[in-house]
Amino acid sequence: MKGTFPIEKFGALQTPFYYYDATLLRNTLKTIQEEAGKYNKFCVHYAVKANANPKVLGIIRESGLGVDCVSGGEIKAAVKAGFPASKIVYAGVGKTDWEINLGLDYDIFCFNVESIPELEVINELAAAKNKIARVAFRINPDVGAHTHANITTGLAENKFGISMADMNRVIDLALEMKHVKFVGLHFHIGSQILDMGDFVALCNRINELQEQLYARQIIVEHINVGGGLGIDYAHPNRQPIPDFAGYFATYHKHLRLRPQQTLHFELGRSVVAQCGSLITRVTYVKQGTNKQFAIVDAGMSDLIRPALYQAYHKIENVSSEEPMETYDVVGPICESSDVFGKAIDMNRTKRGDFLAIRSAGAYGEIMASVYNCRELPKGFLSEEIL
Ligand code: LLP
Repeated sequence: MKGTFPIEKFGALQTPFYYYDATLLRNTLKTIQEEAGKYNKFCVHYAVKANANPKVLGIIRESGLGVDCVSGGEIKAAVKAGFPASKIVYAGVGKTDWEINLGLDYDIFCFNVESIPELEVINELAAAKNKIARVAFRINPDVGAHTHANITTGLAENKFGISMADMNRVIDLALEMKHVKFVGLHFHIGSQILDMGDFVALCNRINELQEQLYARQIIVEHINVGGGLGIDYAHPNRQPIPDFAGYFATYHKHLRLRPQQTLHFELGRSVVAQCGSLITRVTYVKQGTNKQFAIVDAGMSDLIRPALYQAYHKIENVSSEEPMETYDVVGPICESSDVFGKAIDMNRTKRGDFLAIRSAGAYGEIMASVYNCRELPKGFLSEEIL
């Protein structure tokens, strides 16, 4: 089964471009709000890093989600899209002074602090403004996630977060500082996680840490478990909306929250991946020695995930209903890794056909570059071109 696309409208647009199915995005957001809403005090933030297209951000903002930012640029994009600063959490191992100052000026909800030197700088910069910064500590829970090595973050060997052994020490430091208020703990174990057991392992770890804190009569107000829920890249049409019910139920079942605690999530990929496709036109079909190539006008500069993570994205020829044939789908860039898929079965393909590279709404447009002096791809909502 192929996705449905308004290809009669695509001819007027310059390819390659990102196409976002606004209805699917809205339905996904509705599902998130309904499923999270079943539990008292579950609060979902959208991880802007997955896709910061202003039109996409606008729809997400309408849904009432908060945001998770990892740079000053993302804070600016979120504020511009109308998200209230009171719903912004800000993580990142290398926050610079201007970025911290920006967060302080907007009085964002919380800085997710990743080291002692960072805590000291936040305290100093807040003092200079006579403000008090709310901080949560990002604890590295040393929980492995069964996903690609480049996108696991919760192992002790990763650069992220503060080790569990240092947790009590940083809390003590923060409690003595006058310009920070310690409000929570933050975690994130990785991305594209489909095994709920990984989230259960995180819950168990948080339960242990909470017990340690409880022994010191500390109950933090906020627990933030990050993001990471994966999507079905192989079957974008079968399950366009990820299993949010199962995801939130896992946390509800396994995490022992105290009654006064709010549980925060930072979901990126699962919110936006399936609504987006990279639409590209076939420039040439070339017969190789043992194979045929569909050479398209999109390249790794437009969607880098296959080249960078050997990621699979389903590719469909949305212009053809001819019998299936096998192609390597490649871009025009001077790198042998500029390949979207090898030995892909597609309807017989000719020059000028439109291909849809599916599940590209997350970490697609936002990771595009101008390598080879190419133009950045544009992004269109379905409702804009209908
Ligand atoms: N919170 C933190 C602290 C994160 O580092 C991330 C993602 C998220 C939330 C959102 O995670 P998600 O729900 O999207 O899994 N470029 C890679 C993914 C990198 C993810 C980085 N951190 C890719 O294309 O697969």
